[in-house]
Amino acid sequence: MARLISGKDIAAAIREELAAEIKELTAKGNRPPCLAVVWVGDDPASATYVRAKGKACEKIGMQFKLHHLKEDVSEEELLSLLQELNADKEVDAMLVQLPLPKHISEKKVIETIAPDKDADGFHPYNLGRLLMGEPTFVPCTPAGILELFKRSDIDTKGKEVVIIGRSNIVGKPMAALLMQKKTGNATVTVCHTATKDITFHTKRADILIVAAGQPKMIKADMVKEGAVVIDVGIHRTESGLCGDVDFEEVEPKVSAITPVPGGVGPMTVAMLLKNTLQAYKMRMR
Ligand code: GUN
Repeated sequence: MARLISGKDIAAAIREELAAEIKELTAKGNRPPCLAVVWVGDDPASATYVRAKGKACEKIGMQFKLHHLKEDVSEEELLSLLQELNADKEVDAMLVQLPLPKHISEKKVIETIAPDKDADGFHPYNLGRLLMGEPTFVPCTPAGILELFKRSDIDTKGKEVVIIGRSNIVGKPMAALLMQKKTGNATVTVCHTATKDITFHTKRADILIVAAGQPKMIKADMVKEGAVVIDVGIHRTESGLCGDVDFEEVEPKVSAITPVPGGVGPMTVAMLLKNTLQAYKMRMR
């Protein structure tokens, strides 16, 4: 039977550490750190994520400022709110919940957020620094996965890591971090929709990270015996939540696996809090 990597438990431990640090800072008379979240429209999945982020902030003594804008807000109005938040001395970090309505350019939005307030680490400046191995805001999902490895004693050095998915948010930064000497030192392969034989690659993986957005696409015959499997996917189905990995099939064959829910998801929120505290500390220095 595989070891379950509980993101839920590890995220709870991280939140406690962050709460203790914030308590210490505020006890000295400092204001609490503040995260601003901008949410456009009423996408139900976004509603769940925004609510989870707000709750997580409040629980650890972090301020949470929500700006909920109407679906038909103009791009100009949204960008001007972001400029205001950039200039607001009380705001340490911010994010705009994705996806955005079609009439708003995601690229413009991401590039308007000041790089030193970029809680998601999506700004090209921060992604560029990440690629060069410089300290930066690391996108929350890849940061959460590195933290899962660290706190579960999974050594990535010299390992064959296969990542499925090449998004700017998960696949690309994950690959950059894992190939970097300091943060991974692994041999990294990235598979995507044009990859000819996905199974050829996944069967070679000591560590398989799946961010494909396809429910239960990874089956038992696609993984190596004893591999570590990280499932980034989350899908709502009639029989409940599932990931990109067919958990029932794959779990008996591997040495460690993240569940869905309770795996990568809670880590993403914990890393958002960590990035916000990092922005705060940089500002208060
Ligand atoms: N929508 C889905 N995932 C994310 C994320 O990590 N950040 C933001 N801002 N929006 C998202």
